[in-house]
Amino acid sequence: MENLEKYRQLIIKAQQKIFFNYKPSVKSLYAPVYYALENGKKIRPICLLITAEAFGQDINNVMPAALAIEMFHNFTLVHDDVMDRSPLRRGKPTVYHKWDINQAILSGDAMLLLVYQTLLQLDEKFIKPATELLTWAGLKVSEGQQLDLEFETKNKVSLNQYLKMIELKTAVLLATSFKMGALLANASKSAQNNIYQFGKNLGLAFQIQDDYLDLYADQNVFGKKIGNDIITHKKTYLFLKALETADAQTKKTLISTFYDENLPAEQKIEKIKQIYSTLEVPQQTLTTIENLYNLSQKYLFKIKFIDNSARERIWQIAQYLMKRKK
Ligand code: IPE
Ligand code: IPE
Ligand code: MG
Ligand code: MG
Ligand code: MG
Repeated sequence: MENLEKYRQLIIKAQQKIFFNYKPSVKSLYAPVYYALENGKKIRPICLLITAEAFGQDINNVMPAALAIEMFHNFTLVHDDVMDRSPLRRGKPTVYHKWDINQAILSGDAMLLLVYQTLLQLDEKFIKPATELLTWAGLKVSEGQQLDLEFETKNKVSLNQYLKMIELKTAVLLATSFKMGALLANASKSAQNNIYQFGKNLGLAFQIQDDYLDLYADQNVFGKKIGNDIITHKKTYLFLKALETADAQTKKTLISTFYDENLPAEQKIEKIKQIYSTLEVPQQTLTTIENLYNLSQKYLFKIKFIDNSARERIWQIAQYLMKRKK
């Protein structure tokens, strides 16, 4: 993990450097931008840098792409927290809570523009392919967020529909982070596809784990409000798995509790947790996550022309994510 921390520190330094000479006339637009970039695991730019290096590229040549992806990710979080009414992220008030909704909209918009400004810092020959790939991924994320919103008020959501939704909102960007590293290192098309599939399965595991942590993490470590997905009626893996497993009576109780607007939040969360526990939803969820990690590894082994130490370093990211508590 100390190896990953080394990359994280490089990213933080590079982030500071691109803003160092920037002297905006209206500073207040950017205060929430800097705030939103603080802390965080920086997992996506780490994926990009390590992959580019594995395929023989100098990380300095791809750093603007790494920073652009991290900026894009944080832009989605600023708006996501408004959409999900989330008060807490990384142990601090979310942008819309610390400022207000209008500020979160506007500073979020500025972040999306900064994504493109950062991509323009790439070497000329990389600008078009990198912009095409990130723009494609960004639209997929928006499609996923759209489905996530629609599912809040939809009664019948299948596990397959859920998997499509999380592929779009989460897995595509993680997969794209790896693929971007390979693309900018001129890796073969088949290597790009395999690393994308590796990242996609890792990303599916990552989001199911996020759903799990939303209920079962330690809030002080996770940094987000526990049970927020239940309060906002999110169709999470936990909820859908419970519906799939429950008998008719339990299903009825689960649904009426989930949508009960008179039950205080803490009581609702506790009651749903009890139902999940009887149905062994936590165990089933952890098994699904593990299976997806194992599936991702198969794609990593399909990649030719990278040496074992590079493969090891990429797999280290997966191991770090598997064990994460935040
Ligand atoms: C959170 O992503 C949003 C999801 C896709 C679940 P991360 O867990 O990577 O967030 P930070 O950037 O490390 O806080
Ligand atoms: C996040 O999903 C997906 C995106 C931000 C695109 P969540 O809404 O579950 O992420 P958290 O839990 O708020 O970080
Ligand atoms: Mg969300
Ligand atoms: Mg959210
Ligand atoms: Mg979540």
